[in-house]
Amino acid sequence: MAQKLVVGNWKLNKNFSETELLIKEIVDAAATLPPFVKLGIAPAFPFLHHAIGLVQEHAQIDICAQNVSNHDAGAYTGEVSAEMLASIGLKYCIVGHSERREYFGETNLVIREKVDLLLKNGVTPIVCFGENLTLRTNGSYLSYIIEQLEACLFHLTKEEVSKVIIAYEPIWAIGTGETASPEQAQEVHKSIRNHLFGKYGADVSEQISLLYGGSCKPNNAVSLFSQADIDGGLIGGAALNASDFIQIANSF
Ligand code: PGA
Repeated sequence: MAQKLVVGNWKLNKNFSETELLIKEIVDAAATLPPFVKLGIAPAFPFLHHAIGLVQEHAQIDICAQNVSNHDAGAYTGEVSAEMLASIGLKYCIVGHSERREYFGETNLVIREKVDLLLKNGVTPIVCFGENLTLRTNGSYLSYIIEQLEACLFHLTKEEVSKVIIAYEPIWAIGTGETASPEQAQEVHKSIRNHLFGKYGADVSEQISLLYGGSCKPNNAVSLFSQADIDGGLIGGAALNASDFIQIANSF
């Protein structure tokens, strides 16, 4: 049975004091969380270490980075390595978000390198896949997502892949207010799960958490999370408000 997980991706939002305040609000509001749900919070790089301290006492909440370098170490100005993230005790890192693929030219190969470095350093990758509106409309979205999945993850061993979390994020639904319907999301999640089953078997495919992301809000989380293959969410806009975020996490 896959872990239920809701992760807030804060993107380029919140300065230091705002980060501290919002994490404290989330920690307070998390008193109502069912015990089987875990939370991840992804603020900006400079605040990760402090954020880890703020959630230390709360066993259900962990901190997540939004990105990592595909290089190990060396002359790569401005980069942050997986080893650096691991050295502060970081639990999760988002990889291959469509905004990184689109605005920063990240390819499946780069994403695969990032996944490898995170796993090597004991940080759990949350790897994002999803199609744009053209692929959704012309009907080729499933084969596109499976191609991304294979390119980024299928070189991993059974043991390695079982440490990965997958997020399906249709690009046309991110930040647009247009959510995939529960049936549309379930179709993709089921197809990802089936494909994992074909390659790695039932014990792995049933254990990997599959998150949905793209305008997931308090008013649609219940119907999304009630789908058989949706184990949680990767939340953007609604994660910037503590009560909305916790309401989403309470939707299982
Ligand atoms: P959104 O973002 O919830 O604002 O659509 C989701 C994401 O990009 O992870």
